[in-house]
Amino acid sequence: MGERPMQKESWGRSSASLGVTAAVRKLLWASFMCSIVLVLQNLAQPATADPVLASSVGFCKPVRLEATQEEKDRSVQCCLPAPRRTPKRFQLPRVHHLRVRRPAHELANDVEYVNKYNLAYERMNALPADDPRSFLRQWHTHCSFCKEAYLQRRLNNSATGYPLQLHYSWTFLPWHRMLIYFHEKILGSLIDDPDFTLPFWNWDNQLDATAGQIPQIFLPYQQSTRWPRQHGRHGKIRNTFLYEGKRRNPNHMPPKVLPLTFDASLEKERANWTHDQIRHANLGQVYEMVYNKVSAREYMGGPYDTSSNFTEAVNVTVGESGGSESLHNTAHEWVGMLNNTAYPDNEDMGVFTYAGRDPIFYSHHANVDRLWNVWKALPDKITPDGHRVRRDYDDYDFLETEFTFYDENADMVIVKVKDTLDSRKLGYTYQPMVDADSLWINHKPNGTKPSYKRSDVRVSTSNAIARRPTSFKLTRRAPTAADLRGTQALNVNQLSEGVVLEHVRVPELMYVRFDVFLDSPAATAETDEDESAYVGTFTHLPSGVTTVTDLGQKMVHVEDDDMYRTLNIRFSTSLALKRLGVTDWNTDITVTVVPRFRPHGYGWNIKALTFDCLRQEFT
Ligand code: C2O
Repeated sequence: MGERPMQKESWGRSSASLGVTAAVRKLLWASFMCSIVLVLQNLAQPATADPVLASSVGFCKPVRLEATQEEKDRSVQCCLPAPRRTPKRFQLPRVHHLRVRRPAHELANDVEYVNKYNLAYERMNALPADDPRSFLRQWHTHCSFCKEAYLQRRLNNSATGYPLQLHYSWTFLPWHRMLIYFHEKILGSLIDDPDFTLPFWNWDNQLDATAGQIPQIFLPYQQSTRWPRQHGRHGKIRNTFLYEGKRRNPNHMPPKVLPLTFDASLEKERANWTHDQIRHANLGQVYEMVYNKVSAREYMGGPYDTSSNFTEAVNVTVGESGGSESLHNTAHEWVGMLNNTAYPDNEDMGVFTYAGRDPIFYSHHANVDRLWNVWKALPDKITPDGHRVRRDYDDYDFLETEFTFYDENADMVIVKVKDTLDSRKLGYTYQPMVDADSLWINHKPNGTKPSYKRSDVRVSTSNAIARRPTSFKLTRRAPTAADLRGTQALNVNQLSEGVVLEHVRVPELMYVRFDVFLDSPAATAETDEDESAYVGTFTHLPSGVTTVTDLGQKMVHVEDDDMYRTLNIRFSTSLALKRLGVTDWNTDITVTVVPRFRPHGYGWNIKALTFDCLRQEFT
């Protein structure tokens, strides 16, 4: 505790020394910045439940797809064809046996599987553009729903007038689950194999060095690698569709392993990281972004916002990503063609608009989907109670939310979120990866505690995340019964403590990444993300398209200049506080935000992201 002089001497006081007036003052301070926001939020809460109907029927705003000349000529928007028949309600399949999705790195030499997988894609790609099962339309399904092409509707079919967006909220996991569910079904039907399963890119696996590499399946097979020379029934591996013409970062090919703490601005500095360093950082990252999230809100993201008071012209989404989504963004960023002037948006994977054009996208999401299952089965061991059960939201708004997809018969189906929550009921499961999972589940962050001099501390009073690390003051208090409202905790000791940056305004075209540390005002971009004080990372992937007017020279952005997302960003603090020895509820702390923005991307000239307030919250 010798390292915490600032708390003692300035605004942080231990509970024992708090007089009644001091306590009152403290409470008033805590409510100062955020109270107005909270009141407004409560007023804005709809009186009745408001599940969303996420449908591709009806008005569709064209989304520009023209980063390159090639696309400009070929395609102008990603709206989906209208259904040919009346949409029907999704029925859970009759499950005789579970289809098992297997890890991509274990399938590289399975000639029969790789050839089938590739053939399915070749056939999907050959379907005409008006067929919703075609690869083009599969990509467009993701593009249109991630780029606000459609309008939100209520279940009674009335439009809210706001754009529809399936990221940045609790819809992220169930919507992507069903996206790849139908994608997989379509692939299977095209090769007459109803048991076909997508492979999952098992990037969290640090046990097998090949698991975190771009899987061999998505790369050209070379004589020099482990190319199997089988000349049996199925012959040699043919995987042309799975890699040819895919836009991926040539510097991130095997044996490079996806660093889950990937920071484009530190790529040179970290180029010499040993495999062990990456491995350790990766375990730490999955531990923080999956294990450390106990509540549905922390892991799955916030409720879908249908009631925000925003101006459509300048604001595209209001939302809150969970740990799952933030973690998954890094793989997108790393696979895309970063810093290539011909592909200024980090195509394909690095921008939502194009991500679905790379087959690795669906395999990446299979792992995101797998981790959702793993997360639900994790023990709590984090809240003071220690026995909270991790589970999906059970709010009516969540369960009744509906999505539309095209199935393997090219028919539109309407799926309710409540039917998506158990993958076994959908007929599939994952090959267990118990040993690899347990590495990050049992990870221990480095024991190093931050040390700093009081004179180093500059607590910012403006609500801005600047280009340099910035520290903020967080006023803390104990949870009360009122904090239980809207959570799934059974008592206050089951609440997970967190810090929320509320209403951060993020330009929709900007890649944003920042790390958050507690009580580490001296943290810099070089600070190890695996030290005790680290509480996680926020990542935002762009979903627009930058227009290149002068290829190879200058990137000029001409559209959607003022579009930004308003996001709440939450970090779970219980474990880090424990590690730092903060055991009482009244010790105030500093929150240090370390930005890691993409150096040459859109928004690099933006001096700071502003937000409304920073506060403690229990979920
Ligand atoms: Cu819809 Cu990985 O994104």
